[in-house]
Amino acid sequence: MAILKIARMGHPVLATPARIVEDPSAPEIRRLIKDMVETMMDANGAGLAAPQVHVPLRVVVFQAPEERSDPGQSEEERFDHTAPQTVLINPQIEVLGPEIEGGWEGCLSVPGLRGWVERPAHIRYRGLGLDGETIERVARGFHARVVQHECDHLEGRLYPSRMTDLSRLIFESEIRHFHSREGQAAS
Ligand code: NI
Repeated sequence: MAILKIARMGHPVLATPARIVEDPSAPEIRRLIKDMVETMMDANGAGLAAPQVHVPLRVVVFQAPEERSDPGQSEEERFDHTAPQTVLINPQIEVLGPEIEGGWEGCLSVPGLRGWVERPAHIRYRGLGLDGETIERVARGFHARVVQHECDHLEGRLYPSRMTDLSRLIFESEIRHFHSREGQAAS
């Protein structure tokens, strides 16, 4: 396993749509995923997409732990708000409702910054897991946000291009001046 170098905003690999993984069980895909997980953990990120490590393939890893979920939710709702460390190969997202939610995002490819991004609050996603199994889940809250953020990387999009108010693109060290929500981990 290895910790991989993370591409930063401006590198063309981050602005290019990623390719479908033709053989999800290939040894090089398994190696890539293991290295991506290690890189994400090393960088203390909530998620990582393959283009961020200079590999233009449709692979993401992410996690949405309990401590990031809104404590005000019911147990059933919290279930949709959390996800264990997850690998998705060739993921697809379906928006489940009109509700839009804003939240602070960061990105390991845009270090030091946070931006307020509005996204669909309720989604379903599907993809293949590390062992080729189909993963299908409904997601809300931070869980829905991190999956959309990672899948945006596969379309060559970074979160600033989703922002509607660039006055809310700030340095993370200044986030205390905003009272709405605490900053989220970068992904
Ligand atoms: Ni990112």
